[in-house]
Amino acid sequence: MVILAAGQGKRMMSHLPKVAHPVAGRAMVQWVLRAASILDSATTVVVVGHGADHVRDLLPGDVLTALQIEQLGTGHAATVGFDAIPMVADDDTVVILYGDTPHLTARLVADLADLRSGEVGRLVTTRFDDPAGYGRVLRDSDGRVVGVVEDRDCTDEQRSITEVNAGLYAVRAGRLKHALSNLSDNNHQSEYYLTDIVGILSGEGDTLSAVEGSQEEVSGINSQDQLSVAQRHLRSGINQKLMESGVWMLDPDRTYIEDTVVVEPGAHIFPGVHLMGTTTVGSGARVGPDVYAVDSSIASGATVWYSVLRQAVVGEDCEVGPFASLRPGTVLEKGAKLGTFVETKNTTMGEKAKANHLAYLGDATVGARTNIGAGAITVNYDGHDKHHTEIGDDVFIGSDTMLVAPVTVGNGAMTGAGSVITKNVSAGSLAVERSEQVEIPGYSERRKARRAALNTED
Ligand code: UD1
Ligand code: CA
Repeated sequence: MVILAAGQGKRMMSHLPKVAHPVAGRAMVQWVLRAASILDSATTVVVVGHGADHVRDLLPGDVLTALQIEQLGTGHAATVGFDAIPMVADDDTVVILYGDTPHLTARLVADLADLRSGEVGRLVTTRFDDPAGYGRVLRDSDGRVVGVVEDRDCTDEQRSITEVNAGLYAVRAGRLKHALSNLSDNNHQSEYYLTDIVGILSGEGDTLSAVEGSQEEVSGINSQDQLSVAQRHLRSGINQKLMESGVWMLDPDRTYIEDTVVVEPGAHIFPGVHLMGTTTVGSGARVGPDVYAVDSSIASGATVWYSVLRQAVVGEDCEVGPFASLRPGTVLEKGAKLGTFVETKNTTMGEKAKANHLAYLGDATVGARTNIGAGAITVNYDGHDKHHTEIGDDVFIGSDTMLVAPVTVGNGAMTGAGSVITKNVSAGSLAVERSEQVEIPGYSERRKARRAALNTED
């Protein structure tokens, strides 16, 4: 099998190689590989070229790649790929796919590859009301496929043909090799078109048969606009499957879950939720509205709303938000709570520990049942290095406490509101660090009198 993925994708107007563009959590070429994995991947060659290193990084280790140094067209790319297939006999079936068709299904790949004995090859076609941009399928009066002509090379009459070439082929290796060696670049784009193999073989009496694909399946992505249509389609498929498995979704049109994410049946997902990467959501969790979670886990029974989670672990029955930011290395143990305007980084909150309002906890360990008061902060950075704060179980951190790390607060200890804690606090103690309150009796009245006297002088 050969997958063509070397093109730049000029029409994308993007610095990313086209096939590397993500669609609902997987790069375009990864979707194609997924559908193609129904066939033997040991003989799969992906042709890379533009952004080769980037594209190679997206491929599983066992997939071979071939480098197309100059992108001289799909026919040239197919030749480079074909030459890199290990051990191929003339009668073997070679499947060629384009890396920019993320909707491709395994079923269609299987239909395509299943050549009958004696059959030379197949190509996938479909009909579009607006076929602009696609190669048109030419048939003779008996309905046999006799060629494919590119949009830009069409006569006016050919342009009105609505049957298009999907860019998916299965051809016997010997005949493919022969046809590839006869390609020319004598066309509008001066490229070697893979599509010309159809006419070359037909001219020698070897007609390829057409397998019909659905419009979605064969849509090639050439522009940002088409990419957004593909996103919507794949996303709605992902949501559909999740709902069928028992996930509750208030508004699937406004729910953005990547294909790599696991959501257990019984989870509740509200609108505006983005779940990405390796994120998992447990059964009975309530997520959203408006949660952005990347590579994070939200365990069963947890509630997370209006919040951002990056590489964070939210344990069972935890509550997060509204408006919390959980940065990498945040771990909330069972029943812990982070409330409004709380930011955490590299911090573990023990069971039932709470930071309900306006706190920053960085490089900290917070023990079970400990309460972090409003406005409390771990002062973890001295301008050069980060330091750790260790807070024990059942601690009460008073509002607006500054914990200047490295510092330890023992089990059951308390800190007074507004204290700047620079020394370790022993278990069970109260640490207060602030100036004593001074009271000046009658000051307010005397001040008023002074002001009144000044005004009468004017
Ligand atoms: C191609 C077909 C067209 C078909 C359409 C279906 C040709 C000449 N035309 O057009 O008939 O209707 O797909 O989507 O094949 N690539 C390389 N090396 C190259 C050029 C392209 O690897 O030198 C790769 C691209 O990365 C891409 C694929 O081949 O994944 C298709 O190339 P693209 O330029 O998108 O072809 P289309 O113009 O869409
Ligand atoms: Ca294309």
